[in-house]
Amino acid sequence: MEKNLEIVIGEQELRQRVRELGAEISRDYAGRSPILVSVLKGAFVFLADLVREISIPVAVDFMAITRYGAGRRGGAVRIEKDLDLAIAGRDVLVVEDIVDTGLTLGYLMKNLGARDPASLAVCTLLDRRARRLTKLPLRYVGFEVPDRFLVGYGLDHRELHRNLPHLAALPEEATAPGGP
Ligand code: PRP
Repeated sequence: MEKNLEIVIGEQELRQRVRELGAEISRDYAGRSPILVSVLKGAFVFLADLVREISIPVAVDFMAITRYGAGRRGGAVRIEKDLDLAIAGRDVLVVEDIVDTGLTLGYLMKNLGARDPASLAVCTLLDRRARRLTKLPLRYVGFEVPDRFLVGYGLDHRELHRNLPHLAALPEEATAPGGP
């Protein structure tokens, strides 16, 4: 691993927490078969581990979205790849890697909610509340994390580091404009 990365959540801790979340979801949705909806790309590692800790039948589907206009924070959201499955009447669980401002998830909840699912809930591995701009109900949260730039376990910095098996923090200078 790069020497300037500091481990924030180790592999074992991640595995243990994902196992607990999988067990909780299996209990809560017993007798049903929810569709797990994931947003590309960051959640792919968490989703892959989570589904293998879930003991009830689940379907999996993906969306891709981009934020644009007036800076990423204030901008609008556009769907680049929509779900393949119809979710009307189905139990939908959105699986996210991280909720920051909550703008992405806020848009998604509104968009998915309009399709009349039987239920709609969220499972996020990480909750970075310090940056939240909009109130959102997060039913399952793996970890609350501090306001630092995190990489690994699916999260990237300029598309790199998604493959790290743990979560690490980048030093501030690395994320500054013009940084490495
Ligand atoms: C991350 C993450 C969420 C979003 C959260 O995706 O996967 O979708 O940001 O931020 P918000 O709460 O401020 O809206 P990112 O845009 O980094 O893309 P990626 O998943 O492809 O890395």
